[in-house]
Amino acid sequence: MTRRFYIETVGCQMNVLDSELVAAALLAAGYEPVDSPRQADTILFNTCSVRQHAEDKIYSALGRLKDVKQLGPGKVIGVLGCMAQKDQEQIFKRAPHVDLVVGPGQLAQLPALLERIAAGRGPQIEVSLDRKAGKRSEIQESFARFDPQRAAAARPARCQAMVRIMLGCDKFCTYCIVPSVRGPEQSRPAEEIEAEVRQLVDQGCLEVTLLGQTVNSYQTVSGGRTVRLSDLLARLDAVAGLRRLKFVTNYPRHMTGDLLDAVRDLKSVSPYLHVPAQSGSDRVLARMKRGYTAGQYRQMHDEIRRIVPHAAVTSDFIVGFCGETEDDFQATVRLVQDLRFKNSFIFKYSARPGTKAAALLADDVPEEVKRRRNNELLAIQNAISHEDSLPLIGRTLEILVEGPSKTSLKRAEEGPVVQLTGRDPCDRIVVFDGSRELVGTIVAVEITEANPFTLFGRAP
Ligand code: SAH
Ligand code: SF4
Ligand code: F3S
Repeated sequence: MTRRFYIETVGCQMNVLDSELVAAALLAAGYEPVDSPRQADTILFNTCSVRQHAEDKIYSALGRLKDVKQLGPGKVIGVLGCMAQKDQEQIFKRAPHVDLVVGPGQLAQLPALLERIAAGRGPQIEVSLDRKAGKRSEIQESFARFDPQRAAAARPARCQAMVRIMLGCDKFCTYCIVPSVRGPEQSRPAEEIEAEVRQLVDQGCLEVTLLGQTVNSYQTVSGGRTVRLSDLLARLDAVAGLRRLKFVTNYPRHMTGDLLDAVRDLKSVSPYLHVPAQSGSDRVLARMKRGYTAGQYRQMHDEIRRIVPHAAVTSDFIVGFCGETEDDFQATVRLVQDLRFKNSFIFKYSARPGTKAAALLADDVPEEVKRRRNNELLAIQNAISHEDSLPLIGRTLEILVEGPSKTSLKRAEEGPVVQLTGRDPCDRIVVFDGSRELVGTIVAVEITEANPFTLFGRAP
């Protein structure tokens, strides 16, 4: 009997990639994908713990599945990813109908664990060691690599793919759960990354996004020589057929000159830099242990502007972090106004049990103040995004066409010409009418209109 699986994903791009790889592994094991939990006999959630809200969403989705299990007792419900690593056995207590808990460092075992459940061996759990539970080498080993062969059939877009170049994080920003749930920082060998990129290009990929929590601290040794991100980019730039190369997320302190030179000089590398600042206040940055001051962040930004003047720079911010005063918040507002990011993701601070901040600092900014600061900063950023997109009207941008737009899908547009969506090298979203045949190609689109989030254009 063919088993049918459904996988729901929350969290960052690392999770989106893990879900794709899980799907590829299950396809290889003879499973078939379906579009809803009700049709599936194996229901998987790939989870995130970065904010409370992300966890709440999963626990309530699990709650809703209680009756599904009663309808079909053969159904398997699995919790994968960061929340599996964080909550471990507690998940079985909070949701007794869960059969499977697998941390992000144990995903390679998933098909075998499903086999054990099918063989009647009861609930299964595989998680990695706690970061303080042994020597670094032991902990690294317990966050095992999960880099199976890439399958075009498991990828959401034929012409785009993500490639992990690093695992884990060693920065331990005081608010952040990622280093505990994703384990120690480890860079993948450059040869292996290159082989994977070649495989993806052979499968039709034009764009590859390299992933790491602090992607610009990538470092390995190859043939006795150190390979940094700039070297890796040069190596991948030489892969024939690869048109676009992006990388996320950058850590401000590692934005070195060699990397910016590579972004400027290598033809396939997109001038798009996501470098989260998190705050514009030195006091807050110190309590977050980000390792830089607002002045140093500004200097780094000046360097980007000097070396790659046309680069699109984007950021993340946390508002309402422990002890954040109105003055601190205004310092963040000034940073956003001065540096004019192309876009910023703004989050309300959410205390994460297991982090330094949750243990040592009071979560003392009231929820309504967090909300107000969030909305205020978002409005400022949106106005900047809009103003800075207006000069693009009349210009022609190179768009990698991703597929029909959301509007087109909602309207269920039929026929050869539909509303399409794609991105320019700076990660700007552009919507335009065109033939379905353009999906998966790069086309020149003339921009005719702009709102804060989307550009509209005309294909020739
Ligand atoms: N490695 C990346 C991002 C990791 S998580 C980096 O260093 O930038 C993505 C974003 O979530 C972070 O940039 C931060 O802005 C936000 N975030 C992380 N922990 C958070 C928390 N406890 N509460 C609110 N936002 C948080
Ligand atoms: Fe979290 Fe900081 Fe690591 Fe990013 S750099 S994942 S914010 S600890
Ligand atoms: Fe969330 Fe894990 Fe990513 S906690 S943000 S899915 S690394």
